[in-house]
Amino acid sequence: MTERTLILVKPDGVRRGLIGSVLHRIERKGYLIQKLEKRKVDEATLAQHYAEHVDKPFYPELVRFMTSGDVVAIIAEGENVVHGFRVMMGATLPTDAAPGTIRGDFGRDWDNHEIQNIVHGSDAIESAEREIAIWFPEA
Ligand code: RTP
Ligand code: MG
Repeated sequence: MTERTLILVKPDGVRRGLIGSVLHRIERKGYLIQKLEKRKVDEATLAQHYAEHVDKPFYPELVRFMTSGDVVAIIAEGENVVHGFRVMMGATLPTDAAPGTIRGDFGRDWDNHEIQNIVHGSDAIESAEREIAIWFPEA
């Protein structure tokens, strides 16, 4: 099977009308969009998705942010897509993210505590398969 990754357009990206820009970059890069769904995420699903972060001090604000509106969940596929999309995303903090990356081009700090960084991308092949099973059990 070709490598797959789980991408989310986070609520800030949806609110700011950036779904198309993110999809365009994925396709322009040459990755295939295999599944796509706009939906809300509940707290239980989010706790599975961000299992490594549930005990971190920032987790409550991460939940507030991620449940504040619709997200778009995407499965993208292609050789080395997991690492490739991480490179396209840029650094976690949008002010630090390099220009040319999604977070660097579209993100910035806002006047509140949470990091609003437009997209999520799986950080390893095993995380990708784990996250795909959460968001698209049938896939
Ligand atoms: P993501 O999982 O969403 O793709 O982001 P990432 O790998 O770049 O960053 P990660 O360390 O996995 O953190 C997940 C999300 O949690 C929020 N966060 N807040 N306040 C903080 O110190 C802090 N650290 C992380 C961000 O929304 C980050 O994207
Ligand atoms: Mg992460």
